[in-house]
Amino acid sequence: MKNEYALVTGASSGIGLEIAKRLASDGYNLILTARRTELLENISAEIKNNYKVDTALITKDLSNENAPQEIYDFCELNKFKVSILVNNAGYGIKTSFHNTSIEDEEKFIRVLGTSVIMLSKLFIPNMLADGGGKLMVVSSVASFAAPSAIQPLYGPIKTFMNRFSDSINMNYKHKGITSTSLCPGFTTTGFHTASGVQDEMDRVPKFMVFSAERIANEGVDAMYAGKSYCVPTKTYKTLVFLLKNIPQSVFNLLGKSLAPGRYDKK
Ligand SMILES: NC(=O)c1ccc[n+]([C@@H]2O[C@H](COP(=O)([O-])OP(=O)(O)OC[C@H]3O[C@@H](n4cnc5c(N)ncnc54)[C@H](OP(=O)(O)O)[C@@H]3O)[C@@H](O)[C@H]2O)c1
Repeated sequence: MKNEYALVTGASSGIGLEIAKRLASDGYNLILTARRTELLENISAEIKNNYKVDTALITKDLSNENAPQEIYDFCELNKFKVSILVNNAGYGIKTSFHNTSIEDEEKFIRVLGTSVIMLSKLFIPNMLADGGGKLMVVSSVASFAAPSAIQPLYGPIKTFMNRFSDSINMNYKHKGITSTSLCPGFTTTGFHTASGVQDEMDRVPKFMVFSAERIANEGVDAMYAGKSYCVPTKTYKTLVFLLKNIPQSVFNLLGKSLAPGRYDKK
């Protein structure tokens, strides 16, 4: 067991849960956070038992603007030395853009964007004082795709977070802090049910869907290696290469065929 902690947001299911398990298997103590307390309690106990590491949990809704500060204060109070920060929590908005209230978008931006910036801002000074640290932002292949291919804000906020992660590397890599944008494609998790698009997900060809465990392992390996980006699997590496190199019109067409009718009927 190391004397270091990894903080994982969105640790109650999917990719975040698998990242937490992988980090525990590598000897990191964990601070797990999400909204579902009971689930976190069960996961925390299971990880502690299976991997013999220390685990702590704090239930927070990251759409609440005070949540990042409260998570940081919890770590400080308990003297947890956080050397890894995994910003993973996320979801998609179920409703069409014209039917949501602006509060829906504001909450969404807080969970996928502002809270990531705030947690990074809070933990980076300690990492600098400790001589280094590792950040991960769980982004998406959608960050490289046409915004029209999925709901209006999801792709753009992931692109924004990639750029944020780039700037962390630009500013802090020489001081021992690296940030990895993990950009998965379709992954079997609770995401599609939580985001109201499970039917669409069920129609995605199987060769394009990967397990959360595989995504987590590729992401953690890339984070340990200090890589700026990780697009897991050859399938999505190829897709991202094409997305970066083909004309916008073809790119848009591809986006539509990969996410047919998504959100249109709501
Ligand atoms: N699944 C995919 O196909 C896919 C593809 C590309 C990228 N991603 C990204 O991967 C990340 C993880 O998603 P996933 O696929 O693993 O989905 P998931 O199984 O639904 O997990 C999402 C996690 O985020 C937490 N979360 C959601 N809203 C929250 C809030 N307001 N405050 C705090 N925590 C919140 C959830 O916990 P609680 O509900 O307990 O709060 C859960 O632990 C997301 O950033 C997503 O955008 C997913």
